[in-house]
Amino acid sequence: MSGIRICNTHCKFAKQFLMEDAFIVKGGKPLSGTVGLSGAKNVALKVLIAALLFRDPVRFSNIPNIKDISELIHLLESLGVVVKRDKDRVEIDPSGLNSYTVDLLHGSKTRVSFMLFAPLLHKFGEALIPNPGGCRIGARPIDRHIKMLESFQVDAQYNSNTGYYTAKVNGGKLKGSNYIFDKPTHTGTELAIMFAALCHGKSVIKNAAQEPEIDDLISFLNIAGAKIARRDSTIEIEGVSELTVPDEPYRIMFDRNEAPTYAAFALATKGDITVKGVVQSDIYHFVNKVKETGGGVETIDGGVRFFYKGILKATDITTLPHPGFMTDWQGPWAVLMTQAKGTSTIHETVFENRFGYVSELKKLSARIEYFQPQIDDAKALYQFRIDDTINLSRRRQAIKITGPTTLHNGALYVNDLRAGATVLIAACVARGESVVLGASTIDRGYEHIEEKLRKLGANIQRV
Ligand code: EPZ
Repeated sequence: MSGIRICNTHCKFAKQFLMEDAFIVKGGKPLSGTVGLSGAKNVALKVLIAALLFRDPVRFSNIPNIKDISELIHLLESLGVVVKRDKDRVEIDPSGLNSYTVDLLHGSKTRVSFMLFAPLLHKFGEALIPNPGGCRIGARPIDRHIKMLESFQVDAQYNSNTGYYTAKVNGGKLKGSNYIFDKPTHTGTELAIMFAALCHGKSVIKNAAQEPEIDDLISFLNIAGAKIARRDSTIEIEGVSELTVPDEPYRIMFDRNEAPTYAAFALATKGDITVKGVVQSDIYHFVNKVKETGGGVETIDGGVRFFYKGILKATDITTLPHPGFMTDWQGPWAVLMTQAKGTSTIHETVFENRFGYVSELKKLSARIEYFQPQIDDAKALYQFRIDDTINLSRRRQAIKITGPTTLHNGALYVNDLRAGATVLIAACVARGESVVLGASTIDRGYEHIEEKLRKLGANIQRV
C-alpha cells in the first residue's frame, strides 16, 4: 500500500479512537490571507508576576488566552492572589498574597514559577519554590538566576530531598547590587530587573539578555514609576520604595515569536500571508534570512507580508540570543528548508535539545540528518552548560536538510511547544490527511491556532 493509503487507514483508525488532544489536518494547499498576532506569551507570564510587586490591583490587556497563562493564574490564585479575567484583559490583585511557598503541583506546571522569588522575597523576606526543572528542550537549570540573587544578599539553597529552592533575605533591607551574568539569560535578566526595581540604591546588571520581551517588561515597570534604563547588554536600575498602578491597563506587545511560524506556513505551502502586529525590527534576522531564500517579504502598514515567489534557496542558520536568529524560530525554519532547493544547515546554540521535531518530519519523508559542526570553543558558543567531559561528537546540535522534498501525510507527535508548531506546518504542507497528537502542548503558546489557520484556508479539525 502506498504511504498515503497506509496513513489514511492509520488516520481513520486514529480518528475513531482519538478521544482528544489532536488535530486532523488535510494538507497540500497554499495558505493565504491575513493573521493577527496574539499578545506575547513571554511578556504576559512576566508582567503577571511583576504585578505582585504592587500593593493594589494592576490591569493588563492583550494577554493571550493560552494554557501557560491559565496555569500561571492558577498558581497565583493558590497564593491568595485574586485574578479577574475578561477576554484579553486581566486584573491582578496582590493584596491577598498570603504565602511564600509555591506548591509542587502548580510550580511544576509553569516554567516561570521561580520568577516569584522577586515579589515573595520583597513581601515576606523568604520564598520556597520548587525547581522548575527542564523540559524537552533541555535541562534549563537556574544556576545563573540563583547566583544573581545571591549578589543581592539573598541566601538561596537547593534541597535535593524536597526538590525545592529556599531563599531568604540576609538581614535588613534589600540593597542594590552590581552583577555580571557569566552568560546572558532571558528570564534571569527579567528576575534581576523585577528584584532590583524595589531594592534600595542603584543596581547595574551587565551581560544582560536583550530580547525585546524584556524591554516590554521594563516599559511596564517604568510606567509604574520604576527607574530602569538599558544600554545594549547593560541595565541600570535606581531602586524605588514602591510602584504606582498605571491609570490605564498596560497593553503588552504582540508575540513576535508567532510571526515566523505563520511566515513558514505561508512560504512552505506556497501561499501568501500578511502577519499583522509584528514589528519588523523585532524579527530582523528572520526577515533577512527569508530574503536570502528568495521568499517574498513586504512591510505593510502594521505588519509584514510573506509570500511565495518561486522555488526557495536552501539557506543556513545558526541560532543565537537576541539580536541573533531566535532559537524559537528554528523549528518552523526547518520545515521551510525541506521545501527549499539544496542542502541547508541549522546549528542550535541556545538549548541542548531543540530538535524534537526531526523524527516527526522524517516520518513524512523529510531528508534530515544530524551532524556536529566544527567549532573552536564550544563553551563560548553554546549558551547551555557544558562540562569538560562533554563529547561534542555525540551531541545533537546541528542538522542538515536536503530539499525540496514532497512530504506525505502521517501521524505526528508534538514534543514541545515550538516543535508542535513545526509539525503542524508540515501537516499543512503534506498531501493527504495527517494527525497531530498533542494539541494541548501547542495550546500552551499559540492562541486559537486552528481558528487562525482555518481563516488562512487550512483544513484543520481539533478532536
Ligand atoms: C526564555 O527562556 C524563553 N522562555 C524561551 O522561550 C526562549 O527561547 C529563551 O528565553 C531565549 O530567548 C520564557 O521567557 C518563559 P535562557 P529562558 O535563560 O529564560 C541556559 C518558548 O518556547 N541556562 O536565556 O529559560 C538554558 O538552559 C520558550 O517560548 C543555564 O544553563 O532561556 C539555555 O540553554 C522556549 N543556566 C540557555 O542558557 C541558567 O541559570 C538560555 O537560557 C539559565 C539559563
